[in-house]
Amino acid sequence: MTKEKKLEELERALWKIHTDGRGGGTREERKTESEVWDRQTLDAIYRFMKKGIVDTVEHPISTGKEANVFLAITPKGETIVVKIYRTSTADFRGIEEYIMGDPRFPGRRSNKRQVIYAWARKEFLNLRLAHNNGVPVPKPIDFYKNVLAMEYVGTEEMAAPEVRQVKLEDPQTFFDQVIDAVSLLLNKAHLVHGDLSEYNILVRDGSPVLIDMGQAMMERHGRAKELLDRDCRNVARYFNRLGVETSPEEVRERILADSDEELE
Ligand SMILES: Nc1ncnc2c1ncn2[C@@H]1O[C@H](COP(=O)(O)OP(=O)(O)O)[C@@H](O)[C@H]1O
Ligand SMILES: [Mg+2]
Repeated sequence: MTKEKKLEELERALWKIHTDGRGGGTREERKTESEVWDRQTLDAIYRFMKKGIVDTVEHPISTGKEANVFLAITPKGETIVVKIYRTSTADFRGIEEYIMGDPRFPGRRSNKRQVIYAWARKEFLNLRLAHNNGVPVPKPIDFYKNVLAMEYVGTEEMAAPEVRQVKLEDPQTFFDQVIDAVSLLLNKAHLVHGDLSEYNILVRDGSPVLIDMGQAMMERHGRAKELLDRDCRNVARYFNRLGVETSPEEVRERILADSDEELE
């Protein structure tokens, strides 16, 4: 099959997922309505298929403001996750701000598409750094343009829930595990998550898995302290609500306890 034909077939299959199996519609409709499946996205998925990373794309498990997350099946039959950053509706300025000042992404990017691509690349690199340092995160597999492939966190029956969606049996122990994870992230991977909340912590076998690391920043980035403080506030607020006695200051102290250098 020619690439053009294959892409068209892929577009149709993905459109079907997007319309909950209804499919139909003209190519034009698919084009205008299905902003997710722009040419670049199809291209990226096609590339994953060629590389043997993805065989088929299954249903979406999350459609957010900046990204859509799909289950995909590898040629070996394993389930993985494909996160697709929207090239159309993303808050491009907000994103650009996080990338600027990161030594790994020199220079200003004025092209929106380039910024989104850098964002996917950044999440891949952050996940890899975190994973290599033992932080519980989904293992990243590959990225291309605005698409990121990573380990699926969940069981055959269902994706691991966000912590806000479950009733924890032992909030204190879970909280301690979150502190350990964030501590490793800071002191070993030298990253600050930057968007830590009950939305971005999954529960796998009763333990936390940190996700959504596109905005994570190197510890030495100028805004790292501010983001760390916000993360600490979010974690303290959420676990306070679950009856854990803590404060943003305590969370921060515990996270920094293993640090060699002080974040100032
Ligand atoms: N690797 C994964 N395994 C299972 N579920 C995931 C995975 N990555 C993301 N999800 C689900 O998709 C949602 C959105 O993913 P996230 O990376 O947080 O993107 P967003 O920027 O849209 O918040 C998550 O809250 C989670 O429910
Ligand atoms: Mg999220």
